Amino acid sequence: FPEVTLSSCDTTMPVIGMGTSSYPKVDPETAKAAILEAIRAGYRHFDTAFAYGSEQDLGEAIAEALRLGLVKSRSELFITTKLFASFAERELVVPAINKICGYVPNTWPFKFGKVVSSMPVEKGVLLPLDIKSVWEGMEECKRLGLARGIGVSNFTSEMLEDLLSIAKIPPALNQLEMNPLWQLKKLREFCKAKGIHVTAYSPLGSSGTKFGGNKILGSKVLQDIAESKGKTTAQIALRWVYQQGVSLVTKSVNKERMNQNIDIFGWSLTEEELDEIGRLPQHKTITFASIMGPHDVVLQIDAGL
Ligand code: A2P
Repeated sequence: FPEVTLSSCDTTMPVIGMGTSSYPKVDPETAKAAILEAIRAGYRHFDTAFAYGSEQDLGEAIAEALRLGLVKSRSELFITTKLFASFAERELVVPAINKICGYVPNTWPFKFGKVVSSMPVEKGVLLPLDIKSVWEGMEECKRLGLARGIGVSNFTSEMLEDLLSIAKIPPALNQLEMNPLWQLKKLREFCKAKGIHVTAYSPLGSSGTKFGGNKILGSKVLQDIAESKGKTTAQIALRWVYQQGVSLVTKSVNKERMNQNIDIFGWSLTEEELDEIGRLPQHKTITFASIMGPHDVVLQIDAGL
């Protein structure tokens, strides 16, 4: 697996990670079996979040992988998790991250005014983020050795400017919905100029989930390129992301598709194919409105700024 070097992070990160969010949630045994299968297939980077309810399953699967000797030490695995928006305050960050197995926690660009157990949240619960407060807590996680690196998710360039103006430790990465139908060219250029690595989530459009769709896997342009190269449409989408210098987290609970999704090296898309994909009409799949309710911050993120 190629790896990427992250700023202010004391390890490299495998460019492909296995996602663990699932709606509807699969039962713990199925989730753990899928994680073990992914480790067997060679995945060494896993993406979780408090909000996904998958941290426990991931931790138990890793313990089992160590017992089975599939990996020799925990340090062979790179785990990303996300701080839940109910804990987006300086004093709450360290205890929240301490409880979980996270190596690189990200923070979302909003805060919940109370602990919430279901989403979308009702009006008034979603509050603007006090970035200085939450980032001091994130920096403390790094200083205490709870995290190898710290990052953000769904941050616009404006939010990143604010963060960079106060950060003592800059964010190592920004995790964003990014795929051939949501290319985020400007935001990626901005991140690159600031030394912030981009990780793509929903690179396949999270088909089969309640918030995802099949526009990417159903794209005629991607399907035709796939057919001409003897690849699958998913592989074309993932390879395109990789050729943008972006890492990705993608999810599958199916062994064959897990293997397919890491078989994107040793071949490439041509300049013409990249150009054709570069011209695809843009469509954001994951809108926060469906998860968080219709609030202002949602619109900014959904504009892809
Ligand atoms: P499954 O778990 O049954 O393989 P994303 O990575 O964008 O979040 O998308 C994940 C969704 O895409 C899951 O529903 C997953 O279903 C499906 N998926 C993952 N890999 C492939 C693939 N190679 N071909 C088709 N569908 C895939």
